[in-house]
Amino acid sequence: MRIEPTISYSQQIQHAVDDILGKYDHAIDLGIILGTGLGQLIQHIQIEKEIPYEEIPFFPVSTVESHKGKLIFGKLSGKSVVAMQGRFHYYEGYSMKEVTFPVRVMKKLGIKHLFVSNAAGGLNPEYKIGELMIINDHIDLFPENPLRGKNLEEFGVRFPDMSEPYDQSLITSALDIAKRDSMNVHQGVYAAVQGPNLETKAEYKYLRTIGADAIGMSTIPEVIVARHMELPVFAISAITDLCSPGNIKKVKIEEVLVAAAKAEPGMGLIIKELIAKL
Ligand code: HPA
Repeated sequence: MRIEPTISYSQQIQHAVDDILGKYDHAIDLGIILGTGLGQLIQHIQIEKEIPYEEIPFFPVSTVESHKGKLIFGKLSGKSVVAMQGRFHYYEGYSMKEVTFPVRVMKKLGIKHLFVSNAAGGLNPEYKIGELMIINDHIDLFPENPLRGKNLEEFGVRFPDMSEPYDQSLITSALDIAKRDSMNVHQGVYAAVQGPNLETKAEYKYLRTIGADAIGMSTIPEVIVARHMELPVFAISAITDLCSPGNIKKVKIEEVLVAAAKAEPGMGLIIKELIAKL
């Protein structure tokens, strides 16, 4: 019997990177991770190459129906981008190291910025379904941290700073874009829980009390890993359901997708214009 040598996490990342570079060897300016129901932006990319996740060594494979798993390479607003069509959620059973594996890979492919979108529940009573919230801070309520374990020194420090996870100049530019286009865009604090169940009324009340404006089940792990590598991050939520007292009703995934579709054009416009300005 042949025993395979164990491959470290760093080596797995390098294998994935080498494999991708064998298929598409171009400088890449930025990475994009699109959330549930928010894949339309892909249609604006002049696609040069698509690589299904299952063809990339050590890449996790996505399980959620509404996510198609592939990396998309091409041009958006004149910049070279890599977009993840389909992200990995902790609730699907992936470890945090798996959830954030693609962010490490994208960084090694040369990205200088990371753009992230998600669908989220609105805790702030002023928010309406289909509106956008630019994330200006977060509260991590996941039970596992992607940086737990031996620090990957080649990527960043043991105790990365998290005082400004979201790039302030990108937030300011995004607010300018929204204002110019008369879009009612909020900025606020995103909290994330592991899911997959939605929250009880008491939990929504608690989340609001601790300072969250929106609640979801993603984004923060990828942002923590991006900031470990000092990548500037821009993140934006589509408000897909209301979680403030008096507004809470049963959440159906179909309604989340409809609300995401409503928010999508504005979100796409902001991201495209931000990228053009980089
Ligand atoms: N809670 C958690 N995650 C979510 C929600 C919510 O209400 N809506 C969309 N993602």
